[in-house]
Amino acid sequence: MELLNRPRRLRANPVIRSLVRETRVSKDALVYPLFVREGTDIVEEIPSMDGQYRYSPDRLDGILTQLIGAGVHSVLLFGIPEHKDEIGSGAWDPQGAVQQAIRYIKKKYPGIYVITDVCMCEYTSHGHCGALHGQVVDNDETLELLCKTALSHAQAGADMVAPSDMMDGRILAMRNTLDENGFSEAPIMSYAVKYASAFYGPFRDAAGSAPSFGDRKGYQMDYHNRREGIREAALDVEQGADIIMVKPALSYLDVVHEVSGTFDLPLACYSVSGEYSMIKAAAKAGLVDEASIVCETAVSMFRAGADILITYFAMDLARYIDEGR
Ligand code: PBG
Ligand code: ZN
Repeated sequence: MELLNRPRRLRANPVIRSLVRETRVSKDALVYPLFVREGTDIVEEIPSMDGQYRYSPDRLDGILTQLIGAGVHSVLLFGIPEHKDEIGSGAWDPQGAVQQAIRYIKKKYPGIYVITDVCMCEYTSHGHCGALHGQVVDNDETLELLCKTALSHAQAGADMVAPSDMMDGRILAMRNTLDENGFSEAPIMSYAVKYASAFYGPFRDAAGSAPSFGDRKGYQMDYHNRREGIREAALDVEQGADIIMVKPALSYLDVVHEVSGTFDLPLACYSVSGEYSMIKAAAKAGLVDEASIVCETAVSMFRAGADILITYFAMDLARYIDEGR
């Protein structure tokens, strides 16, 4: 039969298949999110996130050694304080869990690149991502709190800060604060395109950061909107973001694709807690094969255009890469 194009020719065996692969996943592109809890001698499993733990700063050695052994060298730190208040003042406490963890990691594991999540919701008594004015998060007042927090992370030795609050103007404000205090070399990774998402459910359980009333729709984005995501990213690029992020990942690959084609900055996507826990639950129920699903979803994020993937499966992915999956 006369048939010029036979795509199956390039699918004949594993060698030719990998030779013509368009997307290759590297360990270098992985970031592992890590929950640090105030206190000492704590390693506790997170009920909503099978296989993920909260660590006190002094108990980070195990996970860090494992990460280094697996070939994952970047972490994204989240803090869980002992006490919360109206404005979240624990966020910029030099003795806070995140600040302690940064100093601990940079001293004992200088090869680990430490990125810190900057937000108020883990530290406020009401669980919102900033200071309240009535029932509403006050944008400009919150900027000051975020800047203090980012500065305290930089002063503790963080390599990069990553604001996840979705206040307007935070990148410019933070850039100015860092520059004025001698941290002009510290990059900012902006959670630029962050949707109000039910996929954050397990995280809010893990961090005890669910809002005590209402929701985050007054600051995080409406998931019906794609063009607005481009606008959000453009604003953060103008304000000096070094890396932009789309979050969540799996349900937002159209946005990842469009942002990656529009801006020439490195693009991160964050495969969030709900994506993680759904895969864990489905695999545990025997419905899907965990390793295959983790690889397929991770590749889909890079294929869509992500340069960096933040994922709770970072260590598993590193192993799968070693195994040549
Ligand atoms: C803090 C923050 C959240 C996540 C990252 N930073 C929670 C939220 O916005 O409610 C979610 C991460 C995840 O679900 O894995 N604002
Ligand atoms: Zn928040």
